[in-house]
Amino acid sequence: MARIVGAITTSHVPAIGGAIARNLQHEPCWRPFFDGFVPVRKWLAEVEPDVVVLLYNDHGLNFFLDKMPTFAIGAAAEYRNADEGWGIPQVPPFKGDPDLSWHLIESLVQQDFDLTTCQEMRVDHAFTLPMALLWPEQNWPVRTVPVCINTVQFPLPSAARCYKLGQAIGRAIEEWNSDAKVLVLGTGGLSHQLDGERAGHINKEFDLQFMASLVGDDPQWATRFSINELVRQAGTQGIELLMWLAARATLTGKVSELHRNYHIPISNTAAGLMLLENR
Ligand code: DHB
Ligand code: FE
Repeated sequence: MARIVGAITTSHVPAIGGAIARNLQHEPCWRPFFDGFVPVRKWLAEVEPDVVVLLYNDHGLNFFLDKMPTFAIGAAAEYRNADEGWGIPQVPPFKGDPDLSWHLIESLVQQDFDLTTCQEMRVDHAFTLPMALLWPEQNWPVRTVPVCINTVQFPLPSAARCYKLGQAIGRAIEEWNSDAKVLVLGTGGLSHQLDGERAGHINKEFDLQFMASLVGDDPQWATRFSINELVRQAGTQGIELLMWLAARATLTGKVSELHRNYHIPISNTAAGLMLLENR
């Protein structure tokens, strides 16, 4: 059976793509962010996962406001990036894993999660930039399965629902008839608000408490808050922390924190990174 080797959670700010394109990784404002990935890449080189199940939110590239699934999953053999208007270079296509996709779809529908299944899907910066941070050569030595959670257009799924989705994905992966090593990646957050009167809102205290909760006795801590309360704390886009929560929930074994980084701000966002091992 397949094995979940761990989860990585990270921010996905588009400006990262600009910094990579202009080789600014060693500039004083970027260095504390990019350096955070060095131990993560070392761990990846040791563990060599075969597949990445990538939980993220699409920001208008594949789904727009006219059709917005709460949960969606890719079932394609290949996923391409496209111009989103951020002015960042596009990255090479990603290999899919249709066998795992269809296994997840069958299992999740069985577990009462009615996802939108996408046999064609374009992947945006929330997918491509975390991948480029983990594999800067952009040769993608893994197959991928994209899973989208709507954090863009209200109503949003509750934190508790996202946690349960993560648990269901974790169960499904471990029942997949394959000897693949699977890495779960959750992208978004941490606190940020890009629009309105509170634009620029960052809540370090909440971010640190949230990160600690994922590796403490009560990883479901954030599920006690309503979506509105999470937005109040973390910002209208900080609600992307839902992907961190779902990624954490996929881990079924003994979870240990191997690495953490937190850096304020890149662009408008408090950038966080965690590497969680699953044994
Ligand atoms: C920013 C952050 C995001 O999560 C995003 O999707 C777009 C922009 C930012 O901080 O600039
Ligand atoms: Fe985002």
